Amino acid sequence: MMLTKYSVYVGSPTIRQTQHTNWNNPMTNLLRRLRGAGYKTRLQNPFDEFWDWRLGIKTFGYHPGSGQQGDAEWYLHYAPTPYRELFRLFRLVNLSPDDVFTDLGSGMGRAVFAASWMGAHRSIGIELVKDLSAKAADNLARTSLKGHDIQLRCANALNVNIGDATVLFMFHPFGETTMVQVLARLHEAREKSDAPLLRIIYRNPVCNHVLEQAGWLRCFARVEGEGPPISTAGRYQATLWTTN
Ligand SMILES: C[S@@+](CC[C@H](N)C(=O)[O-])C[C@H]1O[C@@H](n2cnc3c(N)ncnc32)[C@H](O)[C@@H]1O
Repeated sequence: MMLTKYSVYVGSPTIRQTQHTNWNNPMTNLLRRLRGAGYKTRLQNPFDEFWDWRLGIKTFGYHPGSGQQGDAEWYLHYAPTPYRELFRLFRLVNLSPDDVFTDLGSGMGRAVFAASWMGAHRSIGIELVKDLSAKAADNLARTSLKGHDIQLRCANALNVNIGDATVLFMFHPFGETTMVQVLARLHEAREKSDAPLLRIIYRNPVCNHVLEQAGWLRCFARVEGEGPPISTAGRYQATLWTTN
């Protein structure tokens, strides 16, 4: 019988206790495999599982955030927006083949692929975390959306020119400090060119006041979060914005 030895801290870190896991136990093995593959979340969200399958991508997963709220470096954890919610929000901003869709904080790319499937002319994802970006790149290699204009970048949203975006999507990716700078750069880039109409979808709009105070954006709708009845994903409000 093969035993793997590992140590856990119980209560005070000074009291150390050693436990043994029997990896030859079929039930232990099965549970370990299921945990890694995220089957539980996928079974609980069949609509999202179906769309991942239809688009030929894998977007379930979680990645922790980093830093403290208020720090310039703070960023939020990765958790994908349910497809149903994405399609609803895209319809509310009339996403069309004239649009350049950009997701700031795109994670594994779910919103980027969904916008492309809905007909966006070009769909762009910008993600800070390397591991998530690598998974998004794997998705681009395997997607059934062959020939679609989909671009993925591993970068800080602060350092990317997003001046040609016509639909900007943000699912509360970062805090106030970053939001102020991102909007200032976007405004500057749009001033330099003959920029087309912009719509912004801001899901879980924690920094709504920053958009309000920007002075060049107008909120035209606030929508409550919806979701399939059995979905375990969080339901978040979203605000929709356009240029004045
Ligand atoms: C809540 S997740 C949203 C994922 C995706 N947009 C969706 O709705 O399915 C927020 C993502 O923003 C990313 N992020 C946070 N700060 C960022 C920054 N400054 N530049 C680019 N990505 C960032 C995080 O790594 C995380 O993957």
